[in-house]
Amino acid sequence: MNSFKKILVVYFSHSGNTREIARQIQEATGADVFEIVPVDPYPTDYDAVVDQAKHELRTEYRPILKSNGPDLKAFDAIFVGSPNWWSTIAPPVMTWLSAHDLSGKTIVPFITHEGSRQAKSVQDVKRLSPGATLLDGRAFWGSDVNNSREDIQRWLREIKLLS
Ligand SMILES: Cc1cc2nc3c(=O)[nH]c(=O)nc-3n(C[C@H](O)[C@H](O)[C@H](O)COP(=O)(O)O)c2cc1C
Repeated sequence: MNSFKKILVVYFSHSGNTREIARQIQEATGADVFEIVPVDPYPTDYDAVVDQAKHELRTEYRPILKSNGPDLKAFDAIFVGSPNWWSTIAPPVMTWLSAHDLSGKTIVPFITHEGSRQAKSVQDVKRLSPGATLLDGRAFWGSDVNNSREDIQRWLREIKLLS
């Protein structure tokens, strides 16, 4: 139990790691979940997606999403999850953040990575959610997401989203 009325977990995942963390947060909190899906899927080839992401970030391109997700009125705490792409959040997450007025909401960022941890991700979530309150986020090693259960429980207790 926690003091928040309704929790939403919003995430984008290219290769499944961030999805797995989102799933574990959902399991622990009973939150609703929304997966951010761009209209044009990213290539599965690693080098191709790395190049495309670099270009999109450099040009501040905001990919169009299949859906902007549920009406946020009902939710007071929103987890926002992304892989670390070039030290920041993936462009589809930027699209989602920019599409919503998040002022007055409590935002909890979570990131999966392969060494850079949060880098500029949290800073960029903050920049794109003016007026929101950010709680302490967490970074999870992408290759270790299946061993994150205890870390997640500890974190959720620290930020009082789990008792
Ligand atoms: C386009 C791209 C850029 C990435 N850039 C970084 C980076 O700068 N630092 C890092 O630690 N990991 C980087 N990674 C690794 C991912 O953050 C990591 O594998 C993550 O867990 C993937 O999450 P997903 O499975 O939910 O897509 C990058 C991966 C991709 C595909």
